[in-house]
Amino acid sequence: MDQYPYQINSLGHIEIGGVDTVELANKYGTPLYVYDVAVIRERCRSFVDTFKQLGVRAQVAYASKAFSSIAILQVIKQEGLSVDVVSEGELYTALQAGINPEKIHLHGNNKSSRELEMAVENHIGCVVVDNFFEIELLTSILKHHNKKMDVIIRVTPGIKSKTHQYIMTGNEDSKFGFDLHNGQADEAFHLLLENPHVNFKGLHCHIGSQIFDTERFVTATNILFNKLAEWKDSHGFIPKVLNLGGGFGIRYTEEDQPIPLHHYVEKLVETVKEHSEQLDIPLPEIWIEPGRSIVGDAGITLYTVGSQKHIPGVRDYISVDGGMTDNIRPALYQAKYHGLLANRANDANDTVVSVAGKCCESGDMLIWDLPIPKVNSGDILAILSTGAYGYSMASNYNRIQRAAVVFVENGQDKLVIKRETYEDIISHDLSYES
Ligand code: LLP
Repeated sequence: MDQYPYQINSLGHIEIGGVDTVELANKYGTPLYVYDVAVIRERCRSFVDTFKQLGVRAQVAYASKAFSSIAILQVIKQEGLSVDVVSEGELYTALQAGINPEKIHLHGNNKSSRELEMAVENHIGCVVVDNFFEIELLTSILKHHNKKMDVIIRVTPGIKSKTHQYIMTGNEDSKFGFDLHNGQADEAFHLLLENPHVNFKGLHCHIGSQIFDTERFVTATNILFNKLAEWKDSHGFIPKVLNLGGGFGIRYTEEDQPIPLHHYVEKLVETVKEHSEQLDIPLPEIWIEPGRSIVGDAGITLYTVGSQKHIPGVRDYISVDGGMTDNIRPALYQAKYHGLLANRANDANDTVVSVAGKCCESGDMLIWDLPIPKVNSGDILAILSTGAYGYSMASNYNRIQRAAVVFVENGQDKLVIKRETYEDIISHDLSYES
């Protein structure tokens, strides 16, 4: 993770996975998401292999909200990961991609009865129970099907992570999970422990996203173990699973200083081991749910530069053929990105531009104040680290088609999601003419 995963070839073009990105832009058109599959595999292996080396039973569940499609889930399956889904659509995609249902975990703060039915009927591995309403709903569905299911409960440990408010999830004032400190987690624990339709296996927490240190994971683990110690004393409860969520940080710009992924695993294992020894219980299975750190910096987006606007003494804008429809993150979270010219990557940065999208919205800006060579219309701009929450949060605002997705590996490129057509866009429209 020391640097961005791309090379510059002899033509001065950016190359990823051994493929020239300018050729990709010509072949598939722009905007185009391009993923380097070797990077995805490498990220998966950093997690999976570290648990293996440490001899710890674990599940690494890819948080498919970061990017869900048949192709990515096939790669995830090949690498032996489990999959975390948060909706019927994500569950459907995982099943269609051939993920073993036992390796699917269902999340969500408002799971519908259809979602829970689908989970039960397909015998998925675990439901991460979020609230009291869901306990009732799930119990009645399990009763009806005369089935039993593994569950863990999502709790909020009450720590704030240094991240954008909208992607902060572990604090107590959150729509997710049971509060650990006001008795609600205890109430859920009692309900599930006594429930003949569930195997209550342990706890889950996710403290937020884009976290660059191991400290807050240690703090969260400490807090979870305080509760587990209480439950052991009061009910002799021994947890089988501890799910510590995702949120491992990646490099978007030079300001981000990610740590190697195996450091998180090592620290989590060390902390859980210490606590388990203190409590005198067997080491629970450790589960994690990385999304962004698997696909984030493996993906880039290619755009073609169109119009330019010079406002003397103020700013130079360049506009590209995509924007908030393929990457809502700058508009939604003021997220920062790095970009460079894919067709002239060796040219000196002698100017500064701000990169605008093409939507009819002033907030549709992808990058502010980017140092870059003098830009010509027709240049190909690559924006880096767009692999997570780009395609998955894409929209058809202004009736713009969702972009295509290409995977590259070992010098080969393969289209894995087709570009939408205008027929696709109007395909759900019905006429109001009599
Ligand atoms: N597990 C749970 C329970 C989560 O809620 C999330 C993210 C993850 C795992 C994966 O987190 P990651 O490793 O990808 O950081 N759309 C936002 C991110 C929202 C994340 C919500 N939950 C963004 O674009 O930054």
